[in-house]
Amino acid sequence: MTSSPSRDTSARPVAGRTAYVLLHNTSEVVTFDAAGERLLRVPRGAVVFRDGRVLEVGPGAELSRRHPDARPLNAGGKLVTPGLVDCHTHMIFAGHRAAELQRRLAGEDYATIAAAGGGIRATVRATTTERDEALEKNLANRLERWRANGCTSVEVKSGYGLEPAAELRLLDLMRAATMRVPVRVHRTALVLHALPDEFRARRAEYLDAWCERTLPEIRRRDLASSVDAFCDPVAFSVDECRRVLGRAAELGFPVRLHAEQFERTGGAQLAAELGALSADHLECANESDWQALARSGTMGVLLPAAALTLRQSLPEAAMLRRSGARWAIATDFNPGTSPAQSLLECAALAARLCGFTAEETLRSITWSAARALGAESEVGHLTPGAWGDAVSWECETLEELPYWLPAVRPDCVFMRGADLALPTVERRVWP
Ligand code: NIG
Ligand code: FE
Repeated sequence: MTSSPSRDTSARPVAGRTAYVLLHNTSEVVTFDAAGERLLRVPRGAVVFRDGRVLEVGPGAELSRRHPDARPLNAGGKLVTPGLVDCHTHMIFAGHRAAELQRRLAGEDYATIAAAGGGIRATVRATTTERDEALEKNLANRLERWRANGCTSVEVKSGYGLEPAAELRLLDLMRAATMRVPVRVHRTALVLHALPDEFRARRAEYLDAWCERTLPEIRRRDLASSVDAFCDPVAFSVDECRRVLGRAAELGFPVRLHAEQFERTGGAQLAAELGALSADHLECANESDWQALARSGTMGVLLPAAALTLRQSLPEAAMLRRSGARWAIATDFNPGTSPAQSLLECAALAARLCGFTAEETLRSITWSAARALGAESEVGHLTPGAWGDAVSWECETLEELPYWLPAVRPDCVFMRGADLALPTVERRVWP
C-alpha cells in the first residue's frame, strides 16, 4: 500500500490583513468539539482567527479583552457556525434534464427512462460534446454559488464521462476550476457510474481498464482524493464494485459508495467491509445495514433532494440513533435526481422528513460531512487549530437554521479567517 493521496483542499490564498482577527458581536457561536460529539453554544460569543486558523472560541467580552491587537470584525448580532461542508455533489456536467422530471412525475421510472437513452447517458452525451472552457467555467460558477449558500468545503465527483479518457478529462477540468474559487474542493473519481454502450458485451474489460490503467494514472497524477462507484441493479454489482474499489484501496485511495438507492443489494455491507469513508443514498437500507456502518465507522450520507425527486422515503431519526451510526446530509447536486443547490435547504427538509433536532441537523452538514471527506481534523468545526472557515447567518439562533424556508442566507462567509466578499452576481466568476 502506498501513502494516501494528497488532498486538494488548499482554498485559494487570501490576500490582505487577515492574520489576526476577532469576530465579535455575535448572537451566539455554535460549533461541535473536534470529535463531533459535544455541541458548544456560546451566547454573545467570539472567534479568534490567527494565520487562517481558529485560535479560540469563547465569550465575546473576555476574548475582546484578551486579544486587544486582533483586527475586530463585527458580526452584527448574528449566529456564527462553522462553514458548511457539502460532501456529495456531481457538479461537473453540461445541460439539464428538466423534461425527465416531468416524465418521472407522470409515472415513468428511472430505469425505463435510462434504458430509453435518458438518465445518466443523456448527461454524458451533453458533457462529452461541451467545450472544456464552458465546463470549467460552469463548475467554477457553481462552486461560487455553493459558497454564497454557506459552503466552504465541497466534494465534486467526476462521472459523466464514463469512458476512462473522458473521466480523466473531467478530473483535469475539476482541478483547473478549483484553482479559481476560494472554496475547498475534494475531488472524487466516480469510476463506475454507468457502463458505456461500447462495453455492453465487454463488462469485464471495462473493469480491467480501470484497475490496470486508469486508477493507477489518477493516483500518479494526483487527480482525485477518493474513489466512488454506483452499486445498484441499474449500474454495477457488489462484486464489480468490490473489485474496482478494492484496487483503488490498494493504490491508497479512500473509497466511498453509492449504495442501496433503488434496491437493497448489499452495497452498505460492502462499504462497511471495505472500511469506506462513506456510504451514500441508503434509501433502501435497513437497520442492520446502519449497524454495519456504525461498526466500521463509515459515514452514512443522506441525500434528501434525490429521495424527494424520486419520491422515496428517508430513514427515521429514531432508527439512526438506535443504530449507533453517524450520518451526514449532502445535496447530491446532479442534473437527473437532484437539481438542489442549497445544502442548508436540503438539511431543513431532512430535519422535517426524518425528525432531526437542530443540533443533529447542523452536525450532519458540518462535522459529519467533514468526516465523510476524511477532513474532520481540519474543517467542519471551530476548535483551535481548525481552518478558520465560518459563516455568519442572517438569523440569531441555532434553531432558526433548519426553520426558515427557503433556507437562511449567509451574511458573511469566512475562509481562513478572512471575510471574502460574496459574489453579488454569481455568474461573474469568469472574466
Ligand atoms: O447520485 N445514483 C447515481 N448517480 C446520481 C444520479 C445521476 C443521474 O441521474 O444523472 C445520484 O443520484
Ligand atoms: Fe450521487
